[in-house]
Amino acid sequence: MAKQSKNTYYKSPMNYTGGKHKLLPQILPVFPKEINTFVDLFTGGANVAINVNANKIVANDLDSKVIGIYERFKDFPIEDILHHIEERIAQYQLSKTNKEGYLALRSNYNWAQDEPLDLFVLICYSFNHQIRFNNNGEFNMPFGKDRSSFNDSIRKNLISFRECIENITFTNKDFRELKVDKLKEGDFVYCDPPYLITDATYNEQGGWDFRCELDLLALLDRLNEKGVGFALSNVLTNKGKENELLKEWCKKYHTLHLSKTYANCSYHAKDKTTDTTDEVLITNYRVSVDLAEPGTDKTVETTWKQEANGTMSVLENKIV
Ligand SMILES: C[S@@+](CC[C@H](N)C(=O)[O-])C[C@H]1O[C@@H](n2cnc3c(N)ncnc32)[C@H](O)[C@@H]1O
Repeated sequence: MAKQSKNTYYKSPMNYTGGKHKLLPQILPVFPKEINTFVDLFTGGANVAINVNANKIVANDLDSKVIGIYERFKDFPIEDILHHIEERIAQYQLSKTNKEGYLALRSNYNWAQDEPLDLFVLICYSFNHQIRFNNNGEFNMPFGKDRSSFNDSIRKNLISFRECIENITFTNKDFRELKVDKLKEGDFVYCDPPYLITDATYNEQGGWDFRCELDLLALLDRLNEKGVGFALSNVLTNKGKENELLKEWCKKYHTLHLSKTYANCSYHAKDKTTDTTDEVLITNYRVSVDLAEPGTDKTVETTWKQEANGTMSVLENKIV
């Protein structure tokens, strides 16, 4: 599918914690203009993979359920997917208020666990559209009463997502299994791992620890030695916590401090940060002298607006 023009971006139908859709206007322009193979190593909602331009796109995640949903989307034309979803909604009379219907579908799904599209329907009606399984492998998100449903915006996002993923290869591996040796100059790896110092449902069972962080940083160093470009999303500080390891490691590379003030988002120098969260993009290439050097006086201000269809649109990038 042709990528959106004028810096508007497709949005995943999965409402992923830590999803990068709102940060795309700040992240995507920083990627190299020409990419041969692009690897989205922690794809989650795949917000980055569906918007990137590259000859080949690989989207990986450790979560087999999430990758299972994407594979299933690829198996069927969009009409069949929508038909399946609508059939389930009718069968269980799903709505923003029918908790019993949601719980019935949830228990039937947990009993059989064989239809990824049913899991997608459950996520549409779950609290905050989140995905979470207990230790017995059962989907256990509560009902998203009065808020969650398969609404028009998810429907629209699903239709464009289905087109975008046509040429994406999905893989379901631990990031350490990435075959670094197969990548070369011209390829690019984007990493958006769970953050060591924040919480998310995909990290509740202690999935991401200091060992994972060390292994990822070592992998990125190996990519750098091979001349493969990378960009790493992360936070250096969050609610009083600091990621000391990352703060030290990133000194070797280039760090962009991103803004979460979406009304008028801007790249900014570190010392101008007023957020308690210092959200960064660390690259192994110089994005621009002014942008990449923390402490600089220069700032790129990105003015953006949200389109009626939910996509984000950059109006202007201005160096001030
Ligand atoms: C912050 S989310 C990615 C969000 C994504 N960039 C987006 O915009 O939707 C991090 C993802 O890393 C995945 N993950 C956690 N541990 C992993 C591992 N060891 N290897 C690969 N993926 C992992 C989680 O399942 C989760 O989907």
